[in-house]
Amino acid sequence: MAALHDEIAGLLAHMGPDAACRRIGMRDYYVGELYGQPCVVVLARIGKVAAAATAVTLIRDFDVRALLFTGLAGGIAPGVRVGDVVIADALVHHDLDARPLFPQYEVPLLAVSLLPTDARMNGVLAQCAADYLALALARDVDAATRDLFAIGAPMLHRGLVASGDRFVGDADTAATVHAGLPDTLCVEMEGAAVAQVCHEYQVPCAVMRTISDRADAAAPVDFAAFLNHIASHYSSGIVSRFIEAYTD
Ligand code: ADE
Repeated sequence: MAALHDEIAGLLAHMGPDAACRRIGMRDYYVGELYGQPCVVVLARIGKVAAAATAVTLIRDFDVRALLFTGLAGGIAPGVRVGDVVIADALVHHDLDARPLFPQYEVPLLAVSLLPTDARMNGVLAQCAADYLALALARDVDAATRDLFAIGAPMLHRGLVASGDRFVGDADTAATVHAGLPDTLCVEMEGAAVAQVCHEYQVPCAVMRTISDRADAAAPVDFAAFLNHIASHYSSGIVSRFIEAYTD
């Protein structure tokens, strides 16, 4: 799954015209084979409700045995830079606050704040991301483009990712998220919803994010430029390696 078309375009092209398309709830689910594995590829659209609805459909209508979300994020922690990759070990809804009924960030009546992802999927994904960054990124994205985005030696990070139904495009909001959840590596708009649904259905999931901006005043411009010039390379390069390597 992804929130934006550019992030699945490469996979859809690889699936070819033989992929069957089922339209459910205003979304197109492409069913076919990728790198020898049966797969469903879908554009979830942006935000937590869109992501949760899509994840439920993947689980109930398509019986998926593992679910991978790929997309962009804004770096929050110092050292999480544009062009880095983040794999979520756990996710949190940074905009969920039912105080005083429940503690801040806790999903009411589920009694969890940190929604885990699948350790085995994450292990395979981390290897694939490290290989891509070390071996293939420089081939996919030319040096001039990498320089434009100040992408030198991109790093792979693993840890906490925070999701909310807002694009974080000012330093104050980023600082507020960071103050409440100091372990946060980056912010995005879908991952915790996917992780919550997968937790409730006990389906293994993983969330991988490429850093497109620093969640500050420059974020809207940085995000759009990164999406246009670079994002699809990361998604296609890492996800294709993952599909080849992962068996459930
Ligand atoms: N996705 C990419 N950048 C983001 C940001 N700054 N806030 C929320 N989601 C994002």
